Amino acid sequence: MKAAVLPAVDAAFELRDVPDPVPADGQALVRVRAAGINFLDVLIRRGRYPQPPELPAILGSEVAGELEDGTRVAALTGGQGFAELVAVDRASVVPLPDDATFAEGAGFLLTFLTAWVPLTRQVRLREGARVLVHAAAGGVGTAAIQCARALDAEVVAAAGSEEKLVLCRELGAAEAYTYDAIPDDLRVDVVVDPVGGDLFAQAIGRLRPLGTVIAIGFGGGLWEDVQPANLVGRNVGVQGVYIGRLMRHAPEVIREALGELLELWEAGAIRPVVGRELPLEEIEAALDLVESRRSVGKVVLVP
Ligand SMILES: NC(=O)c1ccc[n+]([C@@H]2O[C@H](COP(=O)([O-])OP(=O)(O)OC[C@H]3O[C@@H](n4cnc5c(N)ncnc54)[C@H](OP(=O)(O)O)[C@@H]3O)[C@@H](O)[C@H]2O)c1
Repeated sequence: MKAAVLPAVDAAFELRDVPDPVPADGQALVRVRAAGINFLDVLIRRGRYPQPPELPAILGSEVAGELEDGTRVAALTGGQGFAELVAVDRASVVPLPDDATFAEGAGFLLTFLTAWVPLTRQVRLREGARVLVHAAAGGVGTAAIQCARALDAEVVAAAGSEEKLVLCRELGAAEAYTYDAIPDDLRVDVVVDPVGGDLFAQAIGRLRPLGTVIAIGFGGGLWEDVQPANLVGRNVGVQGVYIGRLMRHAPEVIREALGELLELWEAGAIRPVVGRELPLEEIEAALDLVESRRSVGKVVLVP
């Protein structure tokens, strides 16, 4: 089969012919119709991911495609997704809604789980709460806006450019700001932060009493140390979420959350946003879109 292989940190991907994967016990073979790019792939490529795979490796953590009996599915792969075929754990396979495209399927699992699990299990978002979403036009961001709206919260979106804010408003954000235009007196109950760095540092000061920052990613810079005194003094908290580890240690939470998300998708309350679809051969351009902050929603590769 054809696959995009990353030979080494900072190297260019190579399209290679490699042996077809052989599913182990408990696994299924998926013919990949679309593979979602995640920021994780950028971090691994740049040598910035804390638990990287041994290189050379095929990257790609989620796909949509067909099982051998033709069933249309989405699946988390744990890597290996940028290829024509991938062997996946049966436990990570979900059926695609009838009207879903493969590209939407490839942009569904990681982003929506990353938004939904903390909003429902950690923060337990209540109706009418105010939620600030950073990188709100991105993969996790567009999912977070939709999940918060589905929970009847009010969304304030923040993103890197005016163009990105248009999409955020379309998805239901009541207010939308570029980072430099966030009002000084904005106060919210929850901050969804997939960015880290300075934005994470500012987020704690934007919380109302009893508010929570959900720390998700550090693509925009490593997290600063949080002093408990700052949290105690303000009556606020920070919650972290890491879906990869939750899948290993609490798979029942993931299954339950996926069931809820599929119901929401089928009811029309959420829908993955696909910003671009590119052929697998254009993986360099696709990764560059995400790394250079020019992407909105999900960027998806078609093998
Ligand atoms: N914890 C978990 O389980 C988990 C799961 C999935 C993803 N994540 C993390 O969540 C974050 C978002 O992932 P994603 O795949 O949905 O990506 P994405 O949001 O589609 O793309 C990253 C976005 O981050 C913003 N950004 C801010 N500073 C940046 C910088 N210095 N370099 C690059 N981007 C920067 C950009 O949006 P603006 O231009 O609007 O700022 C960019 O579009 C990543 O950090 C990822 O690692 C974590």
